[in-house]
Amino acid sequence: MDRTLNVILLIALCSVSECVQRQYHFINEKKTWTEAQRYCREKYTDLATVDNMNDMNELNKSVNDGSVKEIWIGLQKTDRNEWQWSSGEPALYLNWEPGQPENTYCVMMLKGTWHDLPCGDNRYFICNNTNTGLVFVNQTMSWRDAQSYCRQNHTDLVSVRNQDENQQVEKIISDRQLSESDVWIGLFRDSWQWSDQSDSSFTFWKSGEPNNHGGHENCTAVSQDVQGQWIDSSCNNQNSFLCYEDKLIVIRENLTWSEALRYCRQNQMDLVSVHSEEIQRRVMNVVKQASTAAVWLGLRHSCTVGIWFWVSGETVCYQNWAPGNGTSEEDCEHAVRSGAVQSGGNQRWISHREHDKLNFICSRY
Ligand SMILES: *[C@@H]1O[C@H](CO)[C@@H](O)[C@H](O)[C@H]1NC(C)=O
Ligand SMILES: *[C@@H]1O[C@H](CO)[C@@H](O)[C@H](O)[C@H]1NC(C)=O
Ligand SMILES: *[C@@H]1O[C@H](CO)[C@@H](O)[C@H](O)[C@H]1NC(C)=O
Ligand SMILES: *[C@@H]1O[C@H](CO)[C@@H](O)[C@H](O)[C@H]1NC(C)=O
Ligand SMILES: *[C@@H]1O[C@H](CO)[C@@H](O)[C@H](O)[C@H]1NC(C)=O
Ligand SMILES: *[C@@H]1O[C@H](CO)[C@@H](O)[C@H](O)[C@H]1NC(C)=O
Repeated sequence: MDRTLNVILLIALCSVSECVQRQYHFINEKKTWTEAQRYCREKYTDLATVDNMNDMNELNKSVNDGSVKEIWIGLQKTDRNEWQWSSGEPALYLNWEPGQPENTYCVMMLKGTWHDLPCGDNRYFICNNTNTGLVFVNQTMSWRDAQSYCRQNHTDLVSVRNQDENQQVEKIISDRQLSESDVWIGLFRDSWQWSDQSDSSFTFWKSGEPNNHGGHENCTAVSQDVQGQWIDSSCNNQNSFLCYEDKLIVIRENLTWSEALRYCRQNQMDLVSVHSEEIQRRVMNVVKQASTAAVWLGLRHSCTVGIWFWVSGETVCYQNWAPGNGTSEEDCEHAVRSGAVQSGGNQRWISHREHDKLNFICSRY
């Protein structure tokens, strides 16, 4: 098919389609956090994980008893305590002022060196914008609010990964005559971890929380008194709770692509279609369980038309191909090609001969 026509078709067909990949179940029985975790792991996937505001809305909708005050979700305090960037990168370069860090959890720059401060303090901050570069925001906010501001209006809080970037940020601050002021950068540490080990960094704490009231509040509940915002609470309290059921299931059998498709469909599922970054993230969370280096997706190449398509019937709009893979001119002479995701490394998509035998991911609808 004509290339231009392909492009026009793609533009016409690529509308954003949202579909929920995680289903929440509200369990109105009183249990401690650990008992609730065991219950969810037995009956569903795990205690609830929340990735973003969409999830939060879905989760709130599933709670059908307004009189319940606190409801457990899967977030718990652990001993893990490493510095990391808001963007998710590990912190390799560090530029502490001598004597720092002390014992708090968010980091600001003052005259080019770094200090930690309580995350609730209000400071100016610097965002990174993929298109326009670093942006100084002329408002003071807590570190978490600054993070939300940057994520919504730009890309994220700034990462400072080497001396060069440190100088750039220092210059932005001194150009504003703010050399004497503290300015948030994207570095923080957080000992809160999800029960399912997901690396979601989304949080929805009520202002002033977590406060570790009484020194033993290691678990997280959504509080219906404050529109589902989160509070920390003692893990031994008996609360109702929220489980989730993942709609993506890794099948650890080695089948050809057609066999895998048949397997999913015979079990009232389908090979997964990864039509958004959100689904890609969920695929990345589950695909680590696979025993093969690549894992089938519902992705197929048509030699007749020269395009890739999803078995769900959708056009391939969102893409995450490894370099060199996913071109429209696949080698059609030797074998039909189908798409798989790498189970390790960058978890990009690669093109495989359809009779290769791989694990696969079914999606439950
Ligand atoms: C912030 O904005 C105010 C009002 O527009 C301005 O007076 C002030 O100089 C700005 N501060 C910085 C640091 O840019
Ligand atoms: C994004 O910027 C707008 C305009 O400055 C502001 O009103 C809004 O609150 C910002 N978003 C967040 C999450 O802070
Ligand atoms: C800014 O964001 C872009 C895109 O995510 C990234 O490539 C770049 O390294 C970031 N720069 C800084 C200084 O954070
Ligand atoms: C809470 O977590 C802290 C740090 O891991 C630990 O020292 C403490 O014993 C925990 N408390 C409870 C009640 O589990
Ligand atoms: C599938 O293949 C992988 C890699 O070749 C192998 O390690 C695994 O044992 C196989 N699984 C089954 C169920 O045959
Ligand atoms: C597809 O990606 C894999 C993994 O990066 C690479 O080894 C392979 O060479 C790529 N295929 C082509 C045709 O470039």
